[in-house]
Amino acid sequence: MKTTFKYLSRLSVLIFSAMFLLSSCSKENTFSNRKISFNADWSFHLNDSLTNKDTIGTSTKWRTLDLPHDWSIEGKFDEKSSAGYGGGSLNGGLGWYKKTFKIAKEDINKIISITFDGVYKNSEVWINGHYLGKRPNGYIGFQYELSPYLNYGEKTNEIIVKVDNSKQPNSRWYSGSGIFRNVWLETTDKLHVEHWGTYVTTPKVTAEKASVNIETRIQNDHLESKKLTLVTTIYKEDKKVTSGSTTYITLTPKSGTLLNVKAEVESPVLWSVEKPELYTAITEILVDDKIVDQYKTNFGIREFKFDLNKGFILNGKQVKIKGVCMHHDLGPLGSAINTRAIERQLEILKEMGVNGIRTSHNPPAPELLDLCDKMGFIVMDEAFDMWKQNKTKYDYANDWDKWHRIDLGDQLRRDRNHPSIFIWSIGNEIPEQWNETGVEIAKELAEIVRINDKTRPLTAAMNPPVNMNIDAVTLQFEKKNVQFNAIAKSGILDLIGYNYAHQTYEYHQKNFPNTPFIATETTSGLETRGYYDTVSDTIKKWPVRWDLKFTEGNPGNTVSAYDQVQAPWGSTHEATWKVIKKHDFLSGMYIWTGFDYIGEPTPYEWPSVSSYFGIVDLAGFPKDVYYMYQSEWTDKTVLHIFPHWNWKAGQTVDVWAYYNNADEVELFVNGKSVGKRSKKGDDLHVMWRIPFQAGTLKAISRKNGKTVLEKEIKTAGNPSQLKLTADRSTIKADKNDLSFVTVDILDDKETLVPNANNEINFSLTGNGKIVGVCSGDPVSHESYKGNKHTALAGKCLVIVQSGDKTGRVELTAKAKGLKPATIVITTE
Ligand code: GAL
Repeated sequence: MKTTFKYLSRLSVLIFSAMFLLSSCSKENTFSNRKISFNADWSFHLNDSLTNKDTIGTSTKWRTLDLPHDWSIEGKFDEKSSAGYGGGSLNGGLGWYKKTFKIAKEDINKIISITFDGVYKNSEVWINGHYLGKRPNGYIGFQYELSPYLNYGEKTNEIIVKVDNSKQPNSRWYSGSGIFRNVWLETTDKLHVEHWGTYVTTPKVTAEKASVNIETRIQNDHLESKKLTLVTTIYKEDKKVTSGSTTYITLTPKSGTLLNVKAEVESPVLWSVEKPELYTAITEILVDDKIVDQYKTNFGIREFKFDLNKGFILNGKQVKIKGVCMHHDLGPLGSAINTRAIERQLEILKEMGVNGIRTSHNPPAPELLDLCDKMGFIVMDEAFDMWKQNKTKYDYANDWDKWHRIDLGDQLRRDRNHPSIFIWSIGNEIPEQWNETGVEIAKELAEIVRINDKTRPLTAAMNPPVNMNIDAVTLQFEKKNVQFNAIAKSGILDLIGYNYAHQTYEYHQKNFPNTPFIATETTSGLETRGYYDTVSDTIKKWPVRWDLKFTEGNPGNTVSAYDQVQAPWGSTHEATWKVIKKHDFLSGMYIWTGFDYIGEPTPYEWPSVSSYFGIVDLAGFPKDVYYMYQSEWTDKTVLHIFPHWNWKAGQTVDVWAYYNNADEVELFVNGKSVGKRSKKGDDLHVMWRIPFQAGTLKAISRKNGKTVLEKEIKTAGNPSQLKLTADRSTIKADKNDLSFVTVDILDDKETLVPNANNEINFSLTGNGKIVGVCSGDPVSHESYKGNKHTALAGKCLVIVQSGDKTGRVELTAKAKGLKPATIVITTE
């Protein structure tokens, strides 16, 4: 890690827009080897003893793999795992990675560094026997300079990384273990832009003009002074928009400086949720008119504020933040990041109408932020789940004193150019929030944030900012004995961040007249996809009371997927949205959670190993409430009815419909109307309570008497065949790209069998491999990494990853007694 950067001087230098210093400063000049992937061909060894003993030596058995890698997801679910139920009952341990590589002779005078985007956790790194350092935080990126210790030419180098995730528990959710994010090798001239060395802001934005300010930290590691100019050129796609530069300056040996270039963009194309327009700043250092370093920064131009009365205003327009919280795991892929897997999650959420992501409760993978920039999400970037006081025995609180300043500063410098980030969160449900210790720490963190970025508001996710007597068990709300959260009341925060307590939102302006509102975390509804307790009255079982055991709930630990089950500190999905929707000053919310995640089942109890909170399950299949949001949050015309139509004859069943763009829905059973329903007041669904009769359930939504949409659900027969559907049937042959293939279990008339739970076996030929299987079942203990899996509610997912050759992959799914299915995926 280069911590020796010194600011020699801070120069604010001129600025121009139309004139260009050199014709050579074009985007095509990008130095393609400045940053290259360093993920391929690592060796890995897991010390199975699960203790933190150093055990590599000549007899160590190594296995070859490509990064990113999460070893915990390869293990077995273990009831006795020291990671606990919170950690998903998957073990941590101590892992070793090593890689040998050569560096070309020509690079002997270059600065060569290795960048890790995140290693969970306690990584230590050696190059050719030299110790480079330790980084306890598992989520932050860091860099070490390798050049002083490298061999050049034919002699190889060896890098060794020790990853110690053996002390458990250290997380309230599944963390994963290993070098689970990307690794890069960076090569620059000795005179170069520092790591995370640019900071682009847009201090003034109007429709006619945006002023752009680009701060650049550069470092001269030469032993002689260098006379340089810095040129920054702004592009929109491949078109040069404008450019700015410094005058000539001289940088003394082994020193750094901060340079400031200003430019103006005429008629700027603004970044918004609907049109996330991006610009690129290419920064070039020139010595004797020759480019010696080139650095790329993506940014966006937008103007926003949080208003006391109007909520969130983006480019002059009020935008309700319709966000979700996300943990970093990717379901069956574990915590090993894959850009396409994150993109798919975001696509599914966007389709539901989500426009915001909270990176709960840690720095996210850089690729998530890049995608949010490109796809248009309002990100709340969060730093910590705890400060000095721990939540689990071995968590980050143990590293707090030594590392929090460095980690937070690094997160801000890493992330502050992303136009999608609108809020910094300094912590989630921090135990110290109620006392003066918390206020002191919050002050320090706020200072770190403001030193690094003054352009975004700062919040903390407090539970809650004002305690107005909501009883955790009875859920009764009484507006008395008002007790203020010390941090909320301290005046340190720019936004009052509410976790839950939706009953208090309408009092916000009275309780905090000077600080705008954001619901940092809401809801915590619970559902198993495809499972329904059929009559509302019987749903008062588990886990309406979170302290009740599963034995008092449903067999098989299922949770009814009508939106009626919640954690007591939260609400149903409908309850919180109804409040947020009502008032402009309630700028928006981040729901717990968009997707199910591994770990933290509610309540904590084996055999459940993953959460029930997601609006979308672990495999990526939406639960029914997804369509409630879609009907409210998008312009799409929606009609969604549930549950399935396979019950016992005569059984009473509640049928719900989510709909929009219509004034009524009529329901028919086998062609006979069972009534029309319309939403009244703030209703978000309609319901019929009817006896089951096998056949066809049909809903018709109408507006002014005219049919808008029709939906049918048929009673399914026995499972008879499998059907495979790929989200993309052509993928890149880059060893990374993924095709997500859905398996449906159908009867002989091609109706989905809603209670089918057949075991499905997968086989594959061609240029690819199976990298994940999942049904979304929170109690399944089958490996996500196997070649077979049991379906949940008639569905299962299999993920195919491409190899590096173009061609075709043939995936076959088989299940006992059912007609198999095959699908072809092209790799190109
Ligand atoms: C919140 C917490 C989240 C998660 C959630 C479950 O209090 O911030 O991390 O634990 O509860 O409902």
